[in-house]
Amino acid sequence: MKGVLLSGGTGSRLRPITHTGPKQLVPVANKPVLEYAVEDFKAAGITEIGVILGHKGRDEIQDLLGDGSKYGVDITYIVQGNPLGLAHAAGCARDFVGDDDFVMYLGDNILKSGITDLVESFEAGDYGAGIALQRVDDPQAFGIADVDENGNVTELIEKPDDPPTNLALIGMYVFSPAVFDAIDNLEPSWRGELEITDAIQSLLEDGYEIDSHVVTGWWKDTGKPEDILEANRLVLEETNLTTDGTVAEDATTDGRVGLAESATIEDGAVVRGPVSIAENTTVKSGTYVGPYSSIGANVTLSNIHIENSVVIGDSEITASGRIVDSLIGRSANVESTDGLLPEGRRLVVGENSQLKL
Ligand code: TTP
Repeated sequence: MKGVLLSGGTGSRLRPITHTGPKQLVPVANKPVLEYAVEDFKAAGITEIGVILGHKGRDEIQDLLGDGSKYGVDITYIVQGNPLGLAHAAGCARDFVGDDDFVMYLGDNILKSGITDLVESFEAGDYGAGIALQRVDDPQAFGIADVDENGNVTELIEKPDDPPTNLALIGMYVFSPAVFDAIDNLEPSWRGELEITDAIQSLLEDGYEIDSHVVTGWWKDTGKPEDILEANRLVLEETNLTTDGTVAEDATTDGRVGLAESATIEDGAVVRGPVSIAENTTVKSGTYVGPYSSIGANVTLSNIHIENSVVIGDSEITASGRIVDSLIGRSANVESTDGLLPEGRRLVVGENSQLKL
C-alpha cells in the first residue's frame, strides 16, 4: 500500500492567507496541516508517499517534508501543476503507484482517528476502492454515499436535493490501480475538473465493489479561516502540551499551556490554556492569551487580549484591544494607534500585512 498526499490546489477560500503560501502549510496547534497527514500515513504503516504539488508553495512544501526521513517515511514529489481536479491529481501518481493499492489523502484535511481503520477495512475484502464517510447534519452540502447492509457503496450523489443518507465523503480514499483506467476515461465536470466521485462511480458501474468506512471521531477540512480555528481548537483539546519555556514569577498561567523552550511569558502577562506558544515568542506584560490560541514562532504580543485565534508566526501584535476568532498571517503586524478597543475584533490578516487599528 502506498500513499498519495494531495498538496496542490489553489486555496482560494483561504485568501488572503494563501496569496503567497500553500494552505497545506497553515499551522494547526503550531504544526503544519500537512504533517498530520504524513503522521497518519506512518501510523497506518504506509511509508512510501507521493506528494502531489501544484504551482504554489512547491519549494516550501519540499523544504518542510524533505525526503521524509524525519518522519520515518520515504517521500517522492509529483508535480501536477494546474489544479485540474482530484481525479487528475490521482492520475498524476500513476507511475509512482505502479501496481500497488494506494490511499489518497487531501493535504488540507485533518482526521482525529487517522486512516488505519479505513486501510484495514479495504484490505479485508476485494475492493476497487474504499471511501471514508462521516455522518453530517447538512448532507445537501456534500458528496453523499448510499451503502448496503454490508457497507458496500451502491451510489454516490454530489450535493443531492433529496439525500438518501447523511453519509458524506470526506477527504480520504483507498484505491486499487483499477482507478487509473477509470480516470483515463473521465470527462471534466461542469466546473472543469476531473472529479474523483466520477472515477469511483465508474468503478461501481464496471462491477467493482466499493468499501466504505464511517469515521466517528472529528474530521476537518481546513479550507476556510473558520475551519482552521476549529481544527486548532479540536487539536489543542487533545494535544499533550508542556511548558518548557520561561514563565516569569509574576506571570499567571492556567490550564494546559504549551510553551516552547525559547519562549517567554513575562511578568504581568496572563495565559489561559489550552494554548500553544512556539519558539522565540514573547508574551509581554499586560497581555492576555486566552483558550484555544496558537501563537507561532518569533512573535511578540504586547498589551493585547487575544483568544481563540491562530497567529502563524514572525509577527508583532501590539494592539491595546481584544482580538478574537482571528487568523493572523505570517509576518503580519497589528498595532493600535489609540485607546483600548472595547469590541472583540475578528481578523483574518494576510501575510506581510501592516494593520493599524
Ligand atoms: P480543494 O479544497 O477542493 O481545492 P483548492 O485547494 O483549489 O481550494 P479552494 O477551493 O479554496 O480554491 O482541494 C482539496 C485538496 O486537494 C487540497 O489539499 C488541494 C488538493 N488538490 C490538488 O492537489 N489538486 C487539485 O487539482 C485539486 C482540485 C485539489
